[in-house]
Amino acid sequence: MEVVILNDANEVAAHGAALVEAMLRVKPRAVFGLATGSTPLALYRRLAERCRTGAVSFRAATSFNLDEYLGLAPGSPQSYRAYMQREFFGQVDIDPAATHLPECAPGEDPQRVGARYEAMIRDAGGIDLQILGIGHNGHIGFNEPSSSLASRTRVKTLTLRTLKANSRLFEAGEFQPRLAITMGIATIMEARRILLLATGSAKAAAVAGLVEGPVTAMCPASALQLHERVTVLLDEAAAADLKYREYYDLANRENSALKERFGDFYAAE
Ligand code: PGA
Repeated sequence: MEVVILNDANEVAAHGAALVEAMLRVKPRAVFGLATGSTPLALYRRLAERCRTGAVSFRAATSFNLDEYLGLAPGSPQSYRAYMQREFFGQVDIDPAATHLPECAPGEDPQRVGARYEAMIRDAGGIDLQILGIGHNGHIGFNEPSSSLASRTRVKTLTLRTLKANSRLFEAGEFQPRLAITMGIATIMEARRILLLATGSAKAAAVAGLVEGPVTAMCPASALQLHERVTVLLDEAAAADLKYREYYDLANRENSALKERFGDFYAAE
């Protein structure tokens, strides 16, 4: 696991955007796994800006979002489809037909959506770069604590803590879904490269569990320890509970020196 600790959320977004751009340079037809929430907003803004200036293009790219609420009216502004349209799809040159979320049509059995979504990801050739945030409770996507580490895309019930954290996005008295369809942990683990972003002190405990805790379903993000190519981008506040902090900084200096001398080994893949 590559743990990169940066000064602030702006640097996290800039570093993340550089990795996305590097992927697109090597593979313009890249398949991205995308996340919603507050954390990736700065990354999306930066990519949108780069797209406007012609520095990067998503024209040939495909995307699969991690999750979508269940039970919202089609077109609801609270849906993750609407979020993505507002914050990213509508701001870059990606083909709308190449953007996917695990959406359940009205009247459709939500239990059938997962297998179909998995097949679509497979047919697209799998995910090249998965972008993730992390919940206060260590969730990735909506894989709440106790989610099977072997889980695939499916319906998940949200924890009370997640409902509370996300209630800020709903008006008082407005319907807030308790269910979502989310990629499973095994689905996420199949991405060829994973980029997890975390900023702010509220994420420090979850980040410590992700990087240094035992691999456990009680901190779903800890499953990423079993993935070969994960980059964790943190600001100082989110890194505050890490015990091996000095080592991560040292390793990054050494890795940067190697990359400077020989180029990025992974970029060529
Ligand atoms: P946040 O959500 O970026 O809004 O903090 C992250 C998550 O719950 O995965």
